[in-house]
Amino acid sequence: MRHFIIVGILVIVAASLTYMGLDALNLMPVAASAQAGPIDWMWNWQVVAMSFLFALIVVPLLYSLAAFRRKKGDTADAEHIVGNTKLEIGWTIAPLFIVMVFAYMGAYSLAETRRVDPQAMIVNVNASQWAWSFEYPDYGFVSTELRLPKDKQVLLRMQSKDVIHSFWVPEFRVKQDIVPGRVTELRITPTLDGAYKVRCAEICGTSHAYMESPALVLSQGDFMAWATEQQGIAAAAQTPEGKGALLVKSSGCLGCHSIDGSKLVGPTWLGLFGSQVPLSDGTTVTADEAYLAESILNPSAKIVAGFETQAMPAFATLTEEEIANILAYLKTLK
Ligand code: CUA
Repeated sequence: MRHFIIVGILVIVAASLTYMGLDALNLMPVAASAQAGPIDWMWNWQVVAMSFLFALIVVPLLYSLAAFRRKKGDTADAEHIVGNTKLEIGWTIAPLFIVMVFAYMGAYSLAETRRVDPQAMIVNVNASQWAWSFEYPDYGFVSTELRLPKDKQVLLRMQSKDVIHSFWVPEFRVKQDIVPGRVTELRITPTLDGAYKVRCAEICGTSHAYMESPALVLSQGDFMAWATEQQGIAAAAQTPEGKGALLVKSSGCLGCHSIDGSKLVGPTWLGLFGSQVPLSDGTTVTADEAYLAESILNPSAKIVAGFETQAMPAFATLTEEEIANILAYLKTLK
Protein backbone atom coordinates (compact mmCIF):
# COMPACT_ATOMS: atom_id res chain seq x y z
CA MET A 1 0.00 0.00 0.00
CA ARG A 2 2.88 2.31 0.89
CA HIS A 3 4.28 1.82 -2.65
CA PHE A 4 0.92 2.77 -4.23
CA ILE A 5 0.70 6.00 -2.26
CA ILE A 6 4.27 7.00 -3.10
CA VAL A 7 3.84 6.13 -6.80
CA GLY A 8 0.48 7.92 -6.90
CA ILE A 9 1.98 11.11 -5.53
CA LEU A 10 5.00 10.85 -7.85
CA VAL A 11 2.71 10.34 -10.87
CA ILE A 12 0.74 13.47 -10.03
CA VAL A 13 3.92 15.49 -9.52
CA ALA A 14 5.55 14.17 -12.74
CA ALA A 15 2.35 14.74 -14.76
CA SER A 16 2.11 18.33 -13.47
CA LEU A 17 5.76 19.05 -14.24
CA THR A 18 5.46 17.51 -17.73
CA TYR A 19 2.36 19.58 -18.44
CA MET A 20 3.98 22.79 -17.22
CA GLY A 21 7.08 22.06 -19.29
CA LEU A 22 5.10 21.42 -22.48
CA ASP A 23 2.94 24.46 -21.83
CA ALA A 24 6.01 26.68 -21.37
CA LEU A 25 7.33 25.62 -24.79
CA ASN A 26 4.57 27.69 -26.43
CA LEU A 27 4.16 25.17 -29.22
CA MET A 28 1.20 26.99 -30.76
CA PRO A 29 1.55 30.24 -32.70
CA VAL A 30 -0.65 33.15 -31.61
CA ALA A 31 -4.39 32.47 -31.96
CA ALA A 32 -5.92 34.87 -34.50
CA SER A 33 -9.38 33.49 -35.18
CA ALA A 34 -12.56 32.57 -33.32
CA GLN A 35 -12.10 29.01 -34.60
CA ALA A 36 -8.78 28.80 -32.74
CA GLY A 37 -10.65 28.95 -29.37
CA PRO A 38 -12.22 25.46 -29.34
CA ILE A 39 -9.15 23.96 -31.03
CA ASP A 40 -6.72 25.35 -28.45
CA TRP A 41 -9.09 24.31 -25.65
CA MET A 42 -9.14 20.77 -27.00
CA TRP A 43 -5.37 20.80 -27.59
CA ASN A 44 -4.80 21.85 -24.00
CA TRP A 45 -6.79 18.87 -22.68
CA GLN A 46 -4.85 16.59 -25.02
CA VAL A 47 -1.61 17.86 -23.51
CA VAL A 48 -3.04 17.20 -20.02
CA ALA A 49 -3.92 13.62 -21.05
CA MET A 50 -0.53 13.09 -22.67
CA SER A 51 1.32 14.37 -19.62
CA PHE A 52 -0.68 12.09 -17.33
CA LEU A 53 -0.21 8.98 -19.50
CA PHE A 54 3.50 9.73 -19.83
CA ALA A 55 3.84 9.99 -16.04
CA LEU A 56 1.65 6.92 -15.50
CA ILE A 57 4.07 4.78 -17.54
CA VAL A 58 7.44 6.30 -16.74
CA VAL A 59 7.06 6.82 -12.96
CA PRO A 60 6.04 3.23 -11.98
CA LEU A 61 8.74 1.94 -14.36
CA LEU A 62 11.53 3.96 -12.75
CA TYR A 63 10.11 3.43 -9.24
CA SER A 64 10.05 -0.36 -9.74
CA LEU A 65 13.61 -0.33 -11.03
CA ALA A 66 14.72 1.37 -7.81
CA ALA A 67 12.41 -0.14 -5.19
CA PHE A 68 12.19 -3.76 -6.36
CA ARG A 69 15.70 -4.35 -7.64
CA ARG A 70 17.26 -7.68 -6.78
CA LYS A 71 18.85 -7.68 -3.33
CA LYS A 72 22.39 -8.95 -2.92
CA GLY A 73 22.38 -12.74 -2.57
CA ASP A 74 18.68 -13.06 -3.49
CA THR A 75 18.39 -15.81 -6.11
CA ALA A 76 14.69 -16.63 -5.75
CA ASP A 77 12.27 -16.29 -8.70
CA ALA A 78 9.80 -13.42 -8.78
CA GLU A 79 6.22 -14.01 -7.69
CA HIS A 80 4.13 -15.66 -10.42
CA ILE A 81 0.85 -13.82 -11.12
CA VAL A 82 -1.96 -15.13 -13.38
CA GLY A 83 -4.34 -12.33 -14.33
CA ASN A 84 -6.28 -9.89 -12.21
CA THR A 85 -9.91 -9.52 -13.28
CA LYS A 86 -10.60 -6.34 -11.31
CA LEU A 87 -7.53 -4.64 -12.76
CA GLU A 88 -8.45 -5.70 -16.28
CA ILE A 89 -12.00 -4.39 -15.95
CA GLY A 90 -10.59 -1.17 -14.55
CA TRP A 91 -8.05 -0.56 -17.30
CA THR A 92 -10.69 -1.29 -19.93
CA ILE A 93 -13.41 0.95 -18.55
CA ALA A 94 -11.24 3.90 -17.59
CA PRO A 95 -9.69 4.41 -21.07
CA LEU A 96 -13.08 3.78 -22.69
CA PHE A 97 -14.55 6.55 -20.59
CA ILE A 98 -11.66 8.92 -21.40
CA VAL A 99 -11.89 8.18 -25.13
CA MET A 100 -15.65 8.84 -25.06
CA VAL A 101 -15.11 12.15 -23.28
CA PHE A 102 -12.56 13.15 -25.90
CA ALA A 103 -14.88 12.03 -28.71
CA TYR A 104 -17.53 14.33 -27.31
CA MET A 105 -15.03 17.18 -26.96
CA GLY A 106 -13.87 16.59 -30.55
CA ALA A 107 -17.40 16.64 -31.93
CA TYR A 108 -18.15 19.79 -29.97
CA SER A 109 -14.97 21.54 -31.21
CA LEU A 110 -15.65 20.53 -34.80
CA ALA A 111 -19.18 21.93 -34.61
CA GLU A 112 -17.83 25.16 -33.07
CA THR A 113 -15.25 25.67 -35.84
CA ARG A 114 -17.94 25.15 -38.48
CA ARG A 115 -20.54 27.44 -36.94
CA VAL A 116 -22.18 29.32 -39.81
CA ASP A 117 -22.67 33.06 -39.91
CA PRO A 118 -25.19 33.74 -42.71
CA GLN A 119 -23.63 37.20 -43.12
CA ALA A 120 -20.21 35.72 -43.93
CA MET A 121 -18.19 37.42 -46.65
CA ILE A 122 -17.34 35.06 -49.51
CA VAL A 123 -13.82 34.76 -50.89
CA ASN A 124 -13.16 32.37 -53.76
CA VAL A 125 -9.75 30.80 -53.32
CA ASN A 126 -7.94 29.43 -56.35
CA ALA A 127 -4.95 27.19 -55.77
CA SER A 128 -2.56 26.13 -58.50
CA GLN A 129 1.02 24.97 -58.79
CA TRP A 130 2.34 27.04 -56.99
CA ALA A 131 0.34 30.10 -56.19
CA TRP A 132 -2.79 31.32 -54.45
CA SER A 133 -5.29 33.81 -55.78
CA PHE A 134 -8.22 35.27 -53.92
CA GLU A 135 -11.34 36.53 -55.65
CA TYR A 136 -13.69 38.86 -53.79
CA PRO A 137 -17.02 38.43 -55.63
CA ASP A 138 -18.78 41.07 -53.51
CA TYR A 139 -16.29 43.65 -54.73
CA GLY A 140 -15.36 42.30 -58.17
CA PHE A 141 -11.60 41.98 -57.93
CA VAL A 142 -8.90 39.35 -57.62
CA SER A 143 -5.87 39.64 -55.36
CA THR A 144 -2.73 37.62 -54.72
CA GLU A 145 -3.02 38.58 -51.04
CA LEU A 146 -5.66 37.37 -48.64
CA ARG A 147 -6.86 40.38 -46.69
CA LEU A 148 -9.67 39.95 -44.20
CA PRO A 149 -11.61 42.31 -41.96
CA LYS A 150 -11.41 41.63 -38.25
CA ASP A 151 -14.40 40.12 -36.42
CA LYS A 152 -16.28 39.19 -39.58
CA GLN A 153 -16.70 35.61 -40.68
CA VAL A 154 -15.32 34.80 -44.11
CA LEU A 155 -16.42 31.79 -46.12
CA LEU A 156 -13.58 30.51 -48.29
CA ARG A 157 -14.84 28.61 -51.32
CA MET A 158 -11.77 26.83 -52.61
CA GLN A 159 -10.87 25.24 -55.92
CA SER A 160 -7.74 23.76 -57.44
CA LYS A 161 -6.65 23.99 -61.06
CA ASP A 162 -4.34 21.00 -60.97
CA VAL A 163 -3.43 18.84 -57.98
CA ILE A 164 -4.43 18.59 -54.32
CA HIS A 165 -3.35 21.58 -52.23
CA SER A 166 -4.25 22.48 -48.67
CA PHE A 167 -5.14 25.89 -47.27
CA TRP A 168 -3.45 26.58 -43.95
CA VAL A 169 -2.86 29.66 -41.87
CA PRO A 170 -1.42 28.30 -38.60
CA GLU A 171 -2.66 31.32 -36.60
CA PHE A 172 -6.24 30.55 -37.71
CA ARG A 173 -5.71 26.86 -36.75
CA VAL A 174 -8.23 25.40 -39.22
CA LYS A 175 -6.94 23.70 -42.36
CA GLN A 176 -8.68 22.36 -45.44
CA ASP A 177 -7.62 20.34 -48.49
CA ILE A 178 -8.41 21.66 -51.95
CA VAL A 179 -9.22 18.85 -54.35
CA PRO A 180 -9.43 19.26 -58.15
CA GLY A 181 -13.01 19.03 -59.43
CA ARG A 182 -14.53 19.92 -56.07
CA VAL A 183 -15.32 23.05 -54.12
CA THR A 184 -14.26 22.75 -50.49
CA GLU A 185 -15.20 25.29 -47.86
CA LEU A 186 -13.62 26.76 -44.78
CA ARG A 187 -14.96 29.37 -42.37
CA ILE A 188 -12.69 31.78 -40.54
CA THR A 189 -13.52 34.65 -38.22
CA PRO A 190 -10.28 36.63 -37.71
CA THR A 191 -10.02 38.14 -34.26
CA LEU A 192 -6.51 39.62 -34.16
CA ASP A 193 -4.99 42.20 -36.54
CA GLY A 194 -1.70 41.12 -37.96
CA ALA A 195 0.30 39.82 -40.89
CA TYR A 196 0.23 36.06 -41.27
CA LYS A 197 0.87 33.66 -44.13
CA VAL A 198 -1.25 31.29 -46.14
CA ARG A 199 0.73 28.10 -46.61
CA CYS A 200 0.12 24.99 -48.62
CA ALA A 201 -0.05 21.97 -46.34
CA GLU A 202 -0.24 19.23 -48.97
CA ILE A 203 2.84 18.28 -50.92
CA CYS A 204 2.02 19.38 -54.48
CA GLY A 205 5.26 19.41 -56.46
CA THR A 206 8.70 20.95 -56.58
CA SER A 207 7.74 24.42 -55.30
CA HIS A 208 5.26 23.23 -52.66
CA ALA A 209 7.39 24.75 -49.90
CA TYR A 210 7.24 28.17 -51.55
CA MET A 211 3.49 28.19 -52.12
CA GLU A 212 2.80 31.07 -49.76
CA SER A 213 0.74 34.23 -49.81
CA PRO A 214 0.40 37.05 -47.29
CA ALA A 215 -2.69 36.81 -45.07
CA LEU A 216 -3.50 40.14 -43.47
CA VAL A 217 -6.13 40.79 -40.86
CA LEU A 218 -7.20 44.45 -40.97
CA SER A 219 -9.66 46.61 -39.10
CA GLN A 220 -13.04 46.90 -40.85
CA GLY A 221 -12.16 50.44 -41.98
CA ASP A 222 -8.74 49.51 -43.40
CA PHE A 223 -10.26 46.54 -45.17
CA MET A 224 -12.97 48.66 -46.78
CA ALA A 225 -10.36 51.20 -47.92
CA TRP A 226 -8.28 48.44 -49.50
CA ALA A 227 -11.29 46.73 -51.10
CA THR A 228 -12.49 50.01 -52.59
CA GLU A 229 -9.02 50.72 -53.97
CA GLN A 230 -8.77 47.24 -55.51
CA GLN A 231 -12.26 47.65 -56.92
CA GLY A 232 -11.14 50.87 -58.62
CA ILE A 233 -8.04 49.22 -60.06
CA ALA A 234 -10.11 46.30 -61.34
CA ALA A 235 -12.62 48.68 -62.95
CA ALA A 236 -9.82 50.71 -64.57
CA ALA A 237 -8.41 47.53 -66.08
CA GLN A 238 -11.69 47.10 -67.93
CA THR A 239 -11.37 50.38 -69.89
CA PRO A 240 -9.60 50.38 -73.31
CA GLU A 241 -6.56 52.19 -71.88
CA GLY A 242 -6.53 49.83 -68.89
CA LYS A 243 -6.58 46.80 -71.18
CA GLY A 244 -3.90 48.42 -73.32
CA ALA A 245 -1.69 48.98 -70.28
CA LEU A 246 -1.95 45.29 -69.36
CA LEU A 247 -1.32 44.25 -72.95
CA VAL A 248 1.93 46.20 -73.37
CA LYS A 249 3.16 44.58 -70.19
CA SER A 250 2.22 41.04 -71.22
CA SER A 251 3.55 41.56 -74.78
CA GLY A 252 6.92 42.65 -73.48
CA CYS A 253 6.83 46.12 -75.09
CA LEU A 254 8.12 47.76 -71.93
CA GLY A 255 11.38 45.87 -72.21
CA CYS A 256 12.42 48.29 -74.96
CA HIS A 257 10.10 51.30 -74.59
CA SER A 258 10.01 53.41 -71.46
CA ILE A 259 6.95 55.33 -70.34
CA ASP A 260 8.89 57.89 -68.29
CA GLY A 261 10.97 59.56 -71.02
CA SER A 262 14.16 57.56 -70.47
CA LYS A 263 15.83 56.10 -73.54
CA LEU A 264 15.91 52.32 -73.71
CA VAL A 265 16.44 50.17 -76.81
CA GLY A 266 13.51 51.89 -78.53
CA PRO A 267 12.01 55.39 -78.38
CA THR A 268 10.15 56.34 -75.20
CA TRP A 269 6.38 56.48 -75.25
CA LEU A 270 6.12 59.48 -72.99
CA GLY A 271 4.53 62.31 -74.95
CA LEU A 272 4.77 60.27 -78.15
CA PHE A 273 1.15 60.51 -79.27
CA GLY A 274 0.57 63.56 -81.47
CA SER A 275 4.25 64.55 -81.47
CA GLN A 276 6.44 65.14 -84.54
CA VAL A 277 8.75 62.19 -85.02
CA PRO A 278 11.99 62.63 -87.03
CA LEU A 279 12.61 59.63 -89.26
CA SER A 280 15.87 58.11 -90.49
CA ASP A 281 15.22 59.31 -94.07
CA GLY A 282 15.21 62.93 -92.91
CA THR A 283 11.45 63.42 -93.08
CA THR A 284 9.12 63.92 -90.14
CA VAL A 285 5.86 62.17 -89.35
CA THR A 286 3.07 63.02 -86.94
CA ALA A 287 2.60 60.23 -84.37
CA ASP A 288 -1.07 59.71 -85.07
CA GLU A 289 -3.09 56.51 -84.83
CA ALA A 290 -2.26 55.41 -88.36
CA TYR A 291 1.50 55.85 -87.88
CA LEU A 292 1.54 54.11 -84.49
CA ALA A 293 -0.60 51.18 -85.71
CA GLU A 294 1.72 50.79 -88.70
CA SER A 295 4.77 50.83 -86.43
CA ILE A 296 3.32 48.04 -84.31
CA LEU A 297 2.39 45.80 -87.25
CA ASN A 298 5.33 46.68 -89.51
CA PRO A 299 8.05 48.35 -87.44
CA SER A 300 10.56 48.77 -90.27
CA ALA A 301 8.18 50.78 -92.49
CA LYS A 302 9.23 54.06 -90.86
CA ILE A 303 12.34 54.05 -88.69
CA VAL A 304 12.83 56.73 -86.09
CA ALA A 305 16.05 58.74 -86.50
CA GLY A 306 18.69 57.40 -84.14
CA PHE A 307 17.20 53.89 -83.92
CA GLU A 308 18.40 52.58 -87.31
CA THR A 309 20.41 49.74 -85.78
CA GLN A 310 17.57 48.47 -83.59
CA ALA A 311 15.15 46.01 -85.11
CA MET A 312 11.78 45.69 -83.44
CA PRO A 313 9.82 42.50 -84.08
CA ALA A 314 6.45 42.92 -85.81
CA PHE A 315 3.47 42.36 -83.53
CA ALA A 316 1.28 41.14 -86.39
CA THR A 317 -0.78 38.81 -84.21
CA LEU A 318 -2.41 41.67 -82.28
CA THR A 319 -6.05 42.16 -83.20
CA GLU A 320 -7.52 45.48 -84.29
CA GLU A 321 -9.20 45.83 -80.92
CA GLU A 322 -5.96 45.16 -79.08
CA ILE A 323 -4.14 47.77 -81.15
CA ALA A 324 -6.94 50.24 -80.44
CA ASN A 325 -6.50 49.52 -76.71
CA ILE A 326 -2.76 50.08 -76.94
CA LEU A 327 -3.31 53.37 -78.78
CA ALA A 328 -5.80 54.42 -76.10
CA TYR A 329 -3.13 53.69 -73.52
CA LEU A 330 -0.43 55.58 -75.45
CA LYS A 331 -2.68 58.66 -75.49
CA THR A 332 -2.62 58.69 -71.70
CA LEU A 333 1.20 58.98 -71.60
CA LYS A 334 1.52 62.75 -71.75
CU1 CUA B 1 0.20 23.45 -53.06
CU2 CUA B 1 1.64 22.19 -51.70
